[in-house]
Amino acid sequence: MSPVPGPAPHRWTGRRGNAHAYAADPVAYTARLHHEFGPVSGLVHGDQRQVFVFGAEHNRAVLTDGDVFHTVLEYAIPARIRRVRRGIGLLNMNGPDHRAARHTVTPSFRPQAMGRHAEVIARLAADEVDSWIPGQAFDLTASMRRLTLRIACQCFFGVDIARDADSVGRMVQQMLALRYFASSIRYFPVDLPGTPYRRLLTVIRQLDDALASIVDARRTGGDAPDLLQSLLADRDEQGRGLSDDQLVGQLTTLLVAGHETSSSTLSWALILLSQHRGDLAEVLDDIAGRTPEECAGSTVLDRVLKETLRLLPPGPNTSRIAVAPSVLGGHEIPAGCQVVTSKYATHRNPALFPEPLRFRPERWATATPTRYEYLPYGAGPHVCIGAAFADLEMKIVLGAILSRHVLVPVPGTPVSREVGLLMSPKGPVPVVPYPRSALPSRVDPVGGDLNEMVDLYGDERWRLGW
Ligand code: HEM
Repeated sequence: MSPVPGPAPHRWTGRRGNAHAYAADPVAYTARLHHEFGPVSGLVHGDQRQVFVFGAEHNRAVLTDGDVFHTVLEYAIPARIRRVRRGIGLLNMNGPDHRAARHTVTPSFRPQAMGRHAEVIARLAADEVDSWIPGQAFDLTASMRRLTLRIACQCFFGVDIARDADSVGRMVQQMLALRYFASSIRYFPVDLPGTPYRRLLTVIRQLDDALASIVDARRTGGDAPDLLQSLLADRDEQGRGLSDDQLVGQLTTLLVAGHETSSSTLSWALILLSQHRGDLAEVLDDIAGRTPEECAGSTVLDRVLKETLRLLPPGPNTSRIAVAPSVLGGHEIPAGCQVVTSKYATHRNPALFPEPLRFRPERWATATPTRYEYLPYGAGPHVCIGAAFADLEMKIVLGAILSRHVLVPVPGTPVSREVGLLMSPKGPVPVVPYPRSALPSRVDPVGGDLNEMVDLYGDERWRLGW
């Protein structure tokens, strides 16, 4: 079989230089491989350790075969860090352990269980919106993080972390930004003051402790019909429950996966709407007269969110480790190889999504991609467990915001991506809330590398991905 195509190793630093370039900007590196080398490419030419595969058929092959392709986190995290953490969550598990853990968590996320969350989401969203002063700028990214974190803690764990939302949020941010497998951690695991490794250990311990105290409080009292309750009540065949460390592991994953994703999508959606006044007007007309909870039924909001998730999926790439040899696109994939799939690239296929770089919510009136052609929530055994919750949450929050204010980025604001484990707008993004009647008539274009990812103004500049 032919070796995988791919770029030459970095001139001075070899393969490590390419790995660094990928870690520094995964979206740009992946888009470049896709353009230059087609459906299968190595991190470098002939690479056996990291291979990128593009397109719906490869997404299906890699994401659905959980026996051959394992989730990467547990393998990528250096052993010393694994020892420090108190427990692991769904995204770090594979095989029968993963199936059993998922079985425990699933009932709390069934669509029927969602109804009781709508009122909480609407109440917390109203609280956040009440804190904005018309005409005064605030940081959109910080606000959406605070809100989705509060929603996640209240709905999943039965606690209101209003007072601690910013500090817990900062811990999650630091953990995502430092990344277990960043080069600075992997190649310099030195536990000395000031090193990224020390910072990561500290933040892991702090977050674990914050979650352990939530578990503690609930073990000793409180009995809400929420996710934490079903985890606390879970028993194996021998009647044993989950240990505190196992609980902390599951909660960390739920917290990280369950708030940063929806907060980024909300921020992106509001920024995109601010630049597309026609779509914004359509949303405002559609939600007029509805309560935020009723906005959950809005088809127009549904299309806005689908289009935002198409262009700017919070998890642009999904990686797996091959635990057995396989073949992808005619190339041999040895055991131990990290295989990267890309939603970012898949969602920009012009054959499926005409004018793929434009924000066109109306395309969802007729678009019917398969689950491997459009997969913001993933596919296969690790498909997002919180998709129905996220959908409900994001529509209610958008309804609560847009029924009172229209948000306009402060002129000259650069809007760029920050890609760690997830992709989010790089904060701060200052925006000004206006009542609809006082909306400035001029749309001030936003700067930043959002313009590389989305064709906001129909101009001809160079872009990433088609
Ligand atoms: C816009 C919102 C969201 C997006 C785009 C999203 C996306 C995803 C994706 C792509 C995966 C699969 C990862 C992989 O295959 O490796 C995933 C898994 C997961 N998501 Fe979400 N997610 C969102 C919101 C949520 C929410 C609100 C929760 C609530 C707890 C949540 C919890 C999870 C969990 C626990 C997993 C791991 C499932 C498993 O490994 O079995 N997500 N999500």
